[in-house]
Amino acid sequence: MPSVPSRFTGLGVGFSPYLIKPPEDVVRWTVGEPGFDTPRPVVDAAIASLERGETHYTRGPGSIELCTKISEQLNRLWNLTSTPESVMVTPGAKQALLYAMMVTMESGDEMLVPSPAWPTYDGQAALLGIKPVFTATNENFHPDLENMRDSITTKTRCILINSPNNPTGAVYTPEEIQAIVDLAVEHDLWIISDEIYARLVWSEWPHVSPASLQGGKDRTLVVTGFSKSFAMTGWRLGVLSGPEDAMSAAFACQANANSHVPTFLMPAAEVALEQDETVNEFCEHYLKRRAILCEGIDALPGLNLRSPEGAFYAFIDITGTGMNAIEFADKALSEARVQLIPGSLIQGGEGHVRVSYATDESQIIEGIKRLKSWLI
Ligand SMILES: Cc1ncc(COP(=O)(O)O)c(C=O)c1O
Repeated sequence: MPSVPSRFTGLGVGFSPYLIKPPEDVVRWTVGEPGFDTPRPVVDAAIASLERGETHYTRGPGSIELCTKISEQLNRLWNLTSTPESVMVTPGAKQALLYAMMVTMESGDEMLVPSPAWPTYDGQAALLGIKPVFTATNENFHPDLENMRDSITTKTRCILINSPNNPTGAVYTPEEIQAIVDLAVEHDLWIISDEIYARLVWSEWPHVSPASLQGGKDRTLVVTGFSKSFAMTGWRLGVLSGPEDAMSAAFACQANANSHVPTFLMPAAEVALEQDETVNEFCEHYLKRRAILCEGIDALPGLNLRSPEGAFYAFIDITGTGMNAIEFADKALSEARVQLIPGSLIQGGEGHVRVSYATDESQIIEGIKRLKSWLI
């Protein structure tokens, strides 16, 4: 009987067991997806494209029209100097991340990841034989440069950052991003910058991409996508952009793995990029939901939450309850009927639970009410 290669033994699936759809009466605070429908003009554009018969193979990295619009938007919003030829549309940002790791590292290489970090990085690295080296962040979940520097070895090839961050909601400051770029330059490292939440920023400082900074452009692969900003999680549309050599290698990955994303989704994705007003409306809702959540959590004994700076996640410190994260999450589900994710499933996240406030406002209010009657 042939056997499955050993790298799949115990390969993590992140916190997906806690994402299972709970019974109807449970308040679901787990799923990291916008509680909105995809904007109607985007849906209409996909239907129109299908009706025009745009159902055949097309340009591998994505239609030139879509890549042009993405490049313009990256340059307009984040000060990049991308070209349409340096952009690739991928099946979700997840696939863009996988390709970014594939084209920057060999099996056996090490990748620094400030933690707590989204567990998918861990799983993807394991698929490729890359060793993720988690470097603890400071008490605000911002990168600790000394920790990062101390973790560099002769095998380190890459720094992976995610700002705004899932699960912590941290938005790294421009100075921190510059310091990470300087470190990468000093040690000649790649940077993979997961910027999927870049449009969801609540901090006083702006989102800054390392690719926009001196020294960063030639070594940074920017990952972003349509899922979070435009309520398009199920469309599976991500973006990878970076230096020419890395992108040629990434085009080859896509050509051999998935050819391209569905042809009829591309005109719809173009329309999504025009939905600035809707994105702003979504952001207003998230801000309101964040305020309700923070106020509610503040009033609960044993819980402590720093106001999240971006994305739609809150990483709540539960150590004051005397429970560990699994105990807290399991009891919250069985006794309060609120589903949340134990931080201990995330490297460096013990003592915390992750909450997504992308869900409906009414669900946030109801969840707070239930946690209150459970904990008080
Ligand atoms: C930090 C981070 N990066 C990337 C992704 C993947 O997004 P996509 O739906 O485009 O694959 C997610 C999704 O949860 C995420 O939280």
